[in-house]
Amino acid sequence: MPKSKVVIVGTGMVGMSYAYSVFNQGTCEELVLIDIDKNRAEGEAMDLNHGMAFAPRKMKIYAGEYSDCKDADLVVITAGVSQKEGETRIDLLNRNAKIMKLVVNDVMKSGFDGIIMVASNPVDILAYVAKKASGLPSGKVIGSGTSLDTARLRYEISKKINISVSNIHAYILGEHGDSEFACWSNAYIGVKPMVDVIESMSEITFDDLESIHNSVKHSAYEIIKRKKATYYGIGMTLESITHAIINNENRIIPISVYNDGVYDIDPDLYIGLPAVLNSAGVHHIVKLKLNEKEQVQLKESAKILKDILDQMEF
Ligand code: 2OP
Repeated sequence: MPKSKVVIVGTGMVGMSYAYSVFNQGTCEELVLIDIDKNRAEGEAMDLNHGMAFAPRKMKIYAGEYSDCKDADLVVITAGVSQKEGETRIDLLNRNAKIMKLVVNDVMKSGFDGIIMVASNPVDILAYVAKKASGLPSGKVIGSGTSLDTARLRYEISKKINISVSNIHAYILGEHGDSEFACWSNAYIGVKPMVDVIESMSEITFDDLESIHNSVKHSAYEIIKRKKATYYGIGMTLESITHAIINNENRIIPISVYNDGVYDIDPDLYIGLPAVLNSAGVHHIVKLKLNEKEQVQLKESAKILKDILDQMEF
Protein backbone atom coordinates (compact mmCIF):
# COMPACT_ATOMS: atom_id res chain seq x y z
CA MET A 1 0.00 0.00 0.00
CA PRO A 2 1.60 3.34 -1.03
CA LYS A 3 2.08 6.18 1.46
CA SER A 4 -1.07 8.19 1.24
CA LYS A 5 -2.82 11.08 2.91
CA VAL A 6 -6.48 12.00 2.60
CA VAL A 7 -8.11 15.13 4.03
CA ILE A 8 -11.87 15.33 4.59
CA VAL A 9 -13.44 18.77 4.79
CA GLY A 10 -16.79 18.52 6.53
CA THR A 11 -17.38 16.03 9.35
CA GLY A 12 -21.13 15.74 8.99
CA MET A 13 -22.83 12.42 8.33
CA VAL A 14 -21.48 12.09 4.76
CA GLY A 15 -17.92 13.03 5.74
CA MET A 16 -17.92 10.67 8.69
CA SER A 17 -19.56 7.75 6.88
CA TYR A 18 -16.79 8.14 4.32
CA ALA A 19 -14.14 8.37 7.07
CA TYR A 20 -15.53 5.24 8.73
CA SER A 21 -15.45 3.38 5.43
CA VAL A 22 -11.86 4.51 4.70
CA PHE A 23 -10.78 3.45 8.20
CA ASN A 24 -12.48 0.06 7.95
CA GLN A 25 -11.01 -0.65 4.54
CA GLY A 26 -7.51 0.67 5.35
CA THR A 27 -7.58 2.88 2.28
CA CYS A 28 -4.80 5.31 3.26
CA GLU A 29 -2.09 5.89 5.86
CA GLU A 30 -3.14 9.28 7.12
CA LEU A 31 -6.66 10.68 7.47
CA VAL A 32 -7.21 14.30 8.47
CA LEU A 33 -10.59 15.66 9.54
CA ILE A 34 -11.33 19.36 9.06
CA ASP A 35 -14.53 21.04 10.13
CA ILE A 36 -15.62 24.59 10.85
CA ASP A 37 -16.45 23.16 14.28
CA LYS A 38 -12.98 22.00 15.36
CA ASN A 39 -14.36 20.41 18.52
CA ARG A 40 -16.59 18.19 16.49
CA ALA A 41 -13.71 17.10 14.23
CA GLU A 42 -11.63 16.34 17.33
CA GLY A 43 -14.40 14.26 18.85
CA GLU A 44 -14.86 12.33 15.61
CA ALA A 45 -11.10 11.65 15.37
CA MET A 46 -11.01 10.43 18.99
CA ASP A 47 -13.99 8.17 18.43
CA LEU A 48 -12.51 6.64 15.26
CA ASN A 49 -9.11 6.15 16.86
CA HIS A 50 -10.68 3.98 19.54
CA GLY A 51 -11.47 1.45 16.82
CA MET A 52 -7.79 1.16 15.80
CA ALA A 53 -7.49 -2.23 17.52
CA PHE A 54 -9.93 -3.66 14.98
CA ALA A 55 -8.78 -1.85 11.83
CA PRO A 56 -7.04 -3.69 8.98
CA ARG A 57 -3.99 -1.39 9.21
CA LYS A 58 -2.51 1.40 11.26
CA MET A 59 -3.89 4.76 10.24
CA LYS A 60 -2.94 8.19 11.57
CA ILE A 61 -6.26 9.95 12.17
CA TYR A 62 -6.53 13.46 13.58
CA ALA A 63 -8.47 16.73 13.46
CA GLY A 64 -6.40 19.14 11.40
CA GLU A 65 -6.13 22.54 9.80
CA TYR A 66 -6.17 23.62 6.18
CA SER A 67 -2.35 23.75 6.32
CA ASP A 68 -2.48 19.94 6.58
CA CYS A 69 -3.68 19.80 2.96
CA LYS A 70 -0.23 20.80 1.71
CA ASP A 71 1.08 17.26 1.17
CA ALA A 72 -2.27 15.44 0.84
CA ASP A 73 -2.93 13.18 -2.14
CA LEU A 74 -6.64 13.82 -2.00
CA VAL A 75 -8.95 16.38 -0.41
CA VAL A 76 -12.58 15.30 -0.23
CA ILE A 77 -15.09 18.09 0.29
CA THR A 78 -18.38 17.13 1.89
CA ALA A 79 -18.99 20.51 3.56
CA GLY A 80 -22.24 22.33 2.91
CA VAL A 81 -25.92 22.11 3.67
CA SER A 82 -27.74 18.98 2.57
CA GLN A 83 -31.14 18.34 1.03
CA LYS A 84 -34.20 18.60 3.24
CA GLU A 85 -37.47 16.86 2.42
CA GLY A 86 -39.03 18.45 -0.68
CA GLU A 87 -35.78 20.11 -1.82
CA THR A 88 -33.89 19.21 -4.98
CA ARG A 89 -30.10 19.15 -5.07
CA ILE A 90 -30.18 22.30 -7.20
CA ASP A 91 -32.02 24.16 -4.38
CA LEU A 92 -28.79 24.02 -2.35
CA LEU A 93 -26.80 25.84 -5.00
CA ASN A 94 -26.24 29.35 -3.70
CA ARG A 95 -25.47 28.43 -0.12
CA ASN A 96 -23.07 25.65 -1.06
CA ALA A 97 -21.30 27.50 -3.88
CA LYS A 98 -20.20 30.16 -1.36
CA ILE A 99 -18.97 27.51 1.06
CA MET A 100 -17.15 25.68 -1.75
CA LYS A 101 -15.21 28.78 -2.83
CA LEU A 102 -14.10 29.51 0.75
CA VAL A 103 -13.06 25.92 1.38
CA VAL A 104 -11.14 25.57 -1.89
CA ASN A 105 -9.34 28.89 -1.33
CA ASP A 106 -8.19 27.70 2.08
CA VAL A 107 -7.12 24.32 0.70
CA MET A 108 -5.07 25.98 -2.07
CA LYS A 109 -3.40 28.46 0.32
CA SER A 110 -1.66 25.47 1.90
CA GLY A 111 0.25 24.82 -1.34
CA PHE A 112 -1.91 21.74 -2.10
CA ASP A 113 -1.21 20.07 -5.43
CA GLY A 114 -3.20 16.85 -5.26
CA ILE A 115 -6.70 15.83 -6.33
CA ILE A 116 -9.91 17.44 -5.09
CA MET A 117 -13.07 15.34 -4.94
CA VAL A 118 -16.34 17.19 -4.35
CA ALA A 119 -19.27 15.37 -2.77
CA SER A 120 -21.45 18.32 -1.69
CA ASN A 121 -24.56 19.00 -3.75
CA PRO A 122 -25.37 20.01 -6.43
CA VAL A 123 -22.18 18.08 -7.10
CA ASP A 124 -21.72 18.78 -10.83
CA ILE A 125 -22.04 22.54 -10.33
CA LEU A 126 -19.88 22.54 -7.22
CA ALA A 127 -17.14 20.52 -8.94
CA TYR A 128 -17.05 23.28 -11.56
CA VAL A 129 -16.88 25.90 -8.79
CA ALA A 130 -14.01 23.96 -7.19
CA LYS A 131 -12.11 23.75 -10.46
CA LYS A 132 -12.46 27.49 -11.05
CA ALA A 133 -11.55 28.42 -7.47
CA SER A 134 -8.57 26.06 -7.31
CA GLY A 135 -6.96 26.79 -10.66
CA LEU A 136 -5.98 23.10 -10.76
CA PRO A 137 -6.04 21.25 -14.09
CA SER A 138 -9.50 19.84 -14.75
CA GLY A 139 -8.30 16.24 -14.44
CA LYS A 140 -7.39 16.92 -10.82
CA VAL A 141 -10.85 18.09 -9.76
CA ILE A 142 -13.69 15.59 -9.80
CA GLY A 143 -17.14 15.22 -8.29
CA SER A 144 -18.75 12.03 -7.04
CA GLY A 145 -21.19 12.50 -9.93
CA THR A 146 -23.34 9.51 -10.81
CA SER A 147 -21.12 6.96 -9.06
CA LEU A 148 -23.63 6.57 -6.22
CA ASP A 149 -26.58 6.41 -8.62
CA THR A 150 -24.68 3.75 -10.56
CA ALA A 151 -24.13 1.75 -7.38
CA ARG A 152 -27.87 2.04 -6.72
CA LEU A 153 -28.63 0.87 -10.26
CA ARG A 154 -26.33 -2.12 -9.92
CA TYR A 155 -27.98 -3.02 -6.63
CA GLU A 156 -31.51 -2.79 -8.09
CA ILE A 157 -30.63 -4.91 -11.15
CA SER A 158 -28.82 -7.45 -8.99
CA LYS A 159 -31.86 -7.75 -6.71
CA LYS A 160 -34.18 -8.18 -9.68
CA ILE A 161 -32.25 -10.92 -11.49
CA ASN A 162 -30.43 -12.46 -8.53
CA ILE A 163 -26.94 -12.13 -10.02
CA SER A 164 -24.04 -10.75 -8.01
CA VAL A 165 -23.80 -6.97 -8.01
CA SER A 166 -20.15 -7.36 -9.06
CA ASN A 167 -21.36 -8.79 -12.39
CA ILE A 168 -23.67 -5.88 -13.15
CA HIS A 169 -21.98 -3.46 -15.55
CA ALA A 170 -24.29 -0.53 -16.17
CA TYR A 171 -24.05 3.22 -15.65
CA ILE A 172 -26.23 6.12 -14.68
CA LEU A 173 -24.93 9.16 -16.56
CA GLY A 174 -25.61 12.91 -16.69
CA GLU A 175 -26.42 15.22 -13.80
CA HIS A 176 -26.37 13.71 -10.31
CA GLY A 177 -29.97 14.77 -10.00
CA ASP A 178 -33.35 14.69 -11.60
CA SER A 179 -32.16 14.65 -15.24
CA GLU A 180 -29.83 11.66 -14.84
CA PHE A 181 -30.49 8.61 -17.05
CA ALA A 182 -29.64 4.92 -17.23
CA CYS A 183 -27.42 4.05 -20.17
CA TRP A 184 -29.19 0.78 -21.02
CA SER A 185 -27.58 0.49 -24.45
CA ASN A 186 -24.26 -0.18 -22.71
CA ALA A 187 -25.51 -2.41 -19.89
CA TYR A 188 -24.07 -5.90 -19.46
CA ILE A 189 -24.58 -8.76 -17.05
CA GLY A 190 -21.22 -10.48 -16.98
CA VAL A 191 -20.36 -10.25 -20.66
CA LYS A 192 -23.97 -10.62 -21.85
CA PRO A 193 -25.74 -7.55 -23.23
CA MET A 194 -28.78 -6.50 -21.19
CA VAL A 195 -31.07 -6.99 -24.20
CA ASP A 196 -30.04 -10.65 -24.47
CA VAL A 197 -30.43 -11.10 -20.72
CA ILE A 198 -33.99 -9.78 -20.84
CA GLU A 199 -34.83 -12.07 -23.74
CA SER A 200 -33.43 -15.10 -21.94
CA MET A 201 -34.54 -14.51 -18.33
CA SER A 202 -38.04 -14.64 -16.90
CA GLU A 203 -37.10 -12.45 -13.90
CA ILE A 204 -36.86 -9.23 -15.93
CA THR A 205 -38.77 -7.62 -18.81
CA PHE A 206 -38.18 -4.49 -20.89
CA ASP A 207 -40.95 -2.80 -18.85
CA ASP A 208 -38.91 -3.27 -15.68
CA LEU A 209 -36.12 -1.02 -16.95
CA GLU A 210 -38.22 2.09 -16.48
CA SER A 211 -39.20 1.20 -12.92
CA ILE A 212 -35.62 0.24 -12.01
CA HIS A 213 -34.42 3.59 -13.28
CA ASN A 214 -37.18 5.43 -11.46
CA SER A 215 -36.38 3.80 -8.16
CA VAL A 216 -32.70 4.75 -8.62
CA LYS A 217 -33.60 8.32 -9.48
CA HIS A 218 -35.91 8.65 -6.50
CA SER A 219 -33.72 6.76 -4.00
CA ALA A 220 -32.32 9.85 -2.29
CA TYR A 221 -35.81 11.39 -1.95
CA GLU A 222 -37.17 8.15 -0.49
CA ILE A 223 -34.32 7.89 2.03
CA ILE A 224 -34.51 11.57 3.00
CA LYS A 225 -38.26 11.19 3.55
CA ARG A 226 -37.60 8.36 6.00
CA LYS A 227 -34.34 9.33 7.77
CA LYS A 228 -33.67 12.94 6.69
CA ALA A 229 -30.34 12.28 4.94
CA THR A 230 -28.32 9.80 2.90
CA TYR A 231 -24.80 8.92 3.99
CA TYR A 232 -23.76 5.25 4.07
CA GLY A 233 -24.13 4.70 0.33
CA ILE A 234 -22.23 7.86 -0.58
CA GLY A 235 -19.63 7.14 2.13
CA MET A 236 -18.80 3.75 0.60
CA THR A 237 -18.92 5.14 -2.93
CA LEU A 238 -16.42 7.88 -2.04
CA GLU A 239 -14.18 5.26 -0.44
CA SER A 240 -14.23 3.20 -3.61
CA ILE A 241 -13.21 6.22 -5.71
CA THR A 242 -10.47 7.01 -3.17
CA HIS A 243 -9.19 3.44 -3.44
CA ALA A 244 -8.91 3.76 -7.22
CA ILE A 245 -6.96 7.02 -6.88
CA ILE A 246 -4.61 6.02 -4.05
CA ASN A 247 -3.79 2.67 -5.66
CA ASN A 248 -3.34 4.09 -9.16
CA GLU A 249 -5.91 1.61 -10.47
CA ASN A 250 -6.94 3.09 -13.82
CA ARG A 251 -10.47 2.07 -12.85
CA ILE A 252 -13.48 3.19 -14.89
CA ILE A 253 -15.99 4.98 -12.66
CA PRO A 254 -18.87 7.26 -13.66
CA ILE A 255 -17.90 10.46 -11.84
CA SER A 256 -18.47 14.13 -12.43
CA VAL A 257 -15.75 15.23 -14.85
CA TYR A 258 -14.96 18.28 -16.89
CA ASN A 259 -16.24 17.39 -20.33
CA ASP A 260 -13.27 17.74 -22.64
CA GLY A 261 -15.29 17.52 -25.83
CA VAL A 262 -15.40 13.71 -25.92
CA TYR A 263 -19.20 13.86 -25.86
CA ASP A 264 -21.20 16.15 -28.10
CA ILE A 265 -22.35 18.51 -25.34
CA ASP A 266 -21.08 21.87 -24.11
CA PRO A 267 -17.43 21.31 -23.20
CA ASP A 268 -17.29 23.86 -20.38
CA LEU A 269 -19.14 21.97 -17.64
CA TYR A 270 -18.92 19.08 -15.20
CA ILE A 271 -21.25 16.11 -15.69
CA GLY A 272 -21.40 12.39 -14.84
CA LEU A 273 -19.49 10.38 -17.44
CA PRO A 274 -17.40 7.20 -17.21
CA ALA A 275 -13.76 8.10 -16.64
CA VAL A 276 -10.50 6.22 -16.11
CA LEU A 277 -9.14 7.24 -12.71
CA ASN A 278 -5.64 6.84 -11.34
CA SER A 279 -3.30 8.59 -8.91
CA ALA A 280 -2.88 11.52 -11.30
CA GLY A 281 -6.65 12.05 -11.48
CA VAL A 282 -8.75 11.59 -14.60
CA HIS A 283 -6.67 9.80 -17.22
CA HIS A 284 -9.38 10.05 -19.84
CA ILE A 285 -13.14 10.07 -20.32
CA VAL A 286 -14.50 6.86 -21.81
CA LYS A 287 -16.48 7.46 -24.97
CA LEU A 288 -19.55 5.22 -25.11
CA LYS A 289 -21.67 4.74 -28.18
CA LEU A 290 -25.00 6.11 -26.94
CA ASN A 291 -28.24 5.39 -28.73
CA GLU A 292 -30.34 8.31 -30.02
CA LYS A 293 -32.54 8.53 -26.94
CA GLU A 294 -29.50 8.57 -24.63
CA GLN A 295 -27.77 11.22 -26.72
CA VAL A 296 -30.81 13.44 -26.26
CA GLN A 297 -30.95 12.64 -22.53
CA LEU A 298 -27.28 13.56 -22.09
CA LYS A 299 -27.73 16.79 -24.03
CA GLU A 300 -30.78 17.77 -21.97
CA SER A 301 -28.99 16.99 -18.73
CA ALA A 302 -25.96 19.03 -19.83
CA LYS A 303 -28.21 21.92 -20.82
CA ILE A 304 -29.75 22.02 -17.35
CA LEU A 305 -26.28 22.25 -15.81
CA LYS A 306 -25.05 24.77 -18.38
CA ASP A 307 -28.04 27.08 -17.84
CA ILE A 308 -27.26 27.14 -14.11
CA LEU A 309 -23.56 27.82 -14.69
CA ASP A 310 -24.41 30.65 -17.08
CA GLN A 311 -26.34 32.41 -14.32
CA MET A 312 -23.49 32.18 -11.82
CA GLU A 313 -20.62 34.58 -11.23
CA PHE A 314 -17.06 33.26 -11.06
C1 2OP B 1 -27.83 11.18 -2.69
O1 2OP B 1 -28.06 10.91 -3.88
C2 2OP B 1 -28.52 13.23 -1.55
O2 2OP B 1 -27.08 13.30 -3.42
C3 2OP B 1 -27.43 12.56 -2.31
O3 2OP B 1 -27.94 10.33 -1.81
